[in-house]
Amino acid sequence: MKLVTIVGARPQFVKAAAVSRAIVARNESLGASAIQEFLLHTGQHYDEVMSGVFFRDLELPEPNEHLGVGSGPQGWQTGRMLTGIEETLLRERPDWVLIYGDTNSTLAGALAAVKLHIPLAHVEAGLRSFNRRMAEEHNRVVSDHLSTLLLCPTRTAVENLRREGIDGAGSASVENVGDVMYDSILHYTGVAEKRSDVLDRLKLNPGNYGLVTIHRAENTDDPVRLKNIFRGLEQIAREGLPIVLPLHPRTRKMIGENSAFAGSRPPFTLTDPVPYLDMLLLEKSAKVILTDSGGVQKEAYWLGVPCVTMRDDTEWVETVEAGWNLLVGADPDKIVAAAHSARPGKPRGNYYGNGHAAEQVLQSILKFV
Ligand code: UD1
Ligand code: UDP
Repeated sequence: MKLVTIVGARPQFVKAAAVSRAIVARNESLGASAIQEFLLHTGQHYDEVMSGVFFRDLELPEPNEHLGVGSGPQGWQTGRMLTGIEETLLRERPDWVLIYGDTNSTLAGALAAVKLHIPLAHVEAGLRSFNRRMAEEHNRVVSDHLSTLLLCPTRTAVENLRREGIDGAGSASVENVGDVMYDSILHYTGVAEKRSDVLDRLKLNPGNYGLVTIHRAENTDDPVRLKNIFRGLEQIAREGLPIVLPLHPRTRKMIGENSAFAGSRPPFTLTDPVPYLDMLLLEKSAKVILTDSGGVQKEAYWLGVPCVTMRDDTEWVETVEAGWNLLVGADPDKIVAAAHSARPGKPRGNYYGNGHAAEQVLQSILKFV
């Protein structure tokens, strides 16, 4: 069986790595190349720190093909990906196309596959923020409604699909396989502890800093929200908790273009985006994580580090319901109060599978065949 896996953005490398490992393991156990994977990189993320380092840290093979699409407006970027992916699929003629998450690379892969009548499997199906101003929400809804096999990470995701009429009774199949990011964190945290020296390099004391990531368009592209978030973070830093902020290129660009930040030197450790293994160690050793990332919210939960989510909504509602993740929007006072209230050590339920989601993904595809 031949699979074309489509990736393009940082979190997709983390997700695809778990499934690629499971494919290699399955082929080894069968002593044959029963599943042949062709890895297609759209080039949505292209900086070395956003792409190349992930392939190395995750021991992902080099992509079989790189479309080099790059950055641009939503329609332009998605359209260029669609053209390139279609050409590849026409040439490679896979049995399945595998897409991940909710980026423009996901949507382009979904459209290209269904127009060529190639079965489509969506890993991380069924997530909803119910916020139709997010590009990602459109990408999710459309990709889910085009998919043949919807591989959900949680029961909530299955239920979201059921409410939209995708319940497995029609031609599409829905399965709760667990979260492939959980597989990755279980596999790589020990590796990170052995290999990463990021705490020494950034002169950080374990348990005594706040780790921050910001990249969501609703925050970076709204100068008032971005300024308010920085006001909250600055207060936390002034009160004595060091703040480490690996800057996504989108955020770096918006800070650079925004006159509200001109001349100010926030009292933070600002770095380039960090490689995955460094990130895992930074997350694990933080006192609190403040983020607008989807993946980082879950990683905080799995690592037992309190999380403050600087968004008005989240797809990962279980982490909030468990009392672990506080949703504070872009309100500086709420950001500060939530960081103060963060306490480790609360019990956490397991909503994200058993750490073998990637094997479940393969089994579901093979079963469907
Ligand atoms: C994308 C996804 C988002 C995901 C995020 C993961 C969409 C609509 N959004 O957002 O869901 O959470 O990836 O990080 O698909 N840039 C660089 N170098 C790079 C990549 C980006 O400089 O290697 C800059 C460019 O100025 C670009 C901007 O970052 O315009 C945004 O990049 P883009 O891929 O469009 O969206 P993300 O914000 O990364
Ligand atoms: N990540 C990383 N380095 C960073 C920031 C994030 O390795 O500087 C990892 C993070 O641990 C998680 C993934 O990238 O595995 C999340 O990606 P991101 O926050 O960009 O996207 P989202 O999950 O919001 O779509």
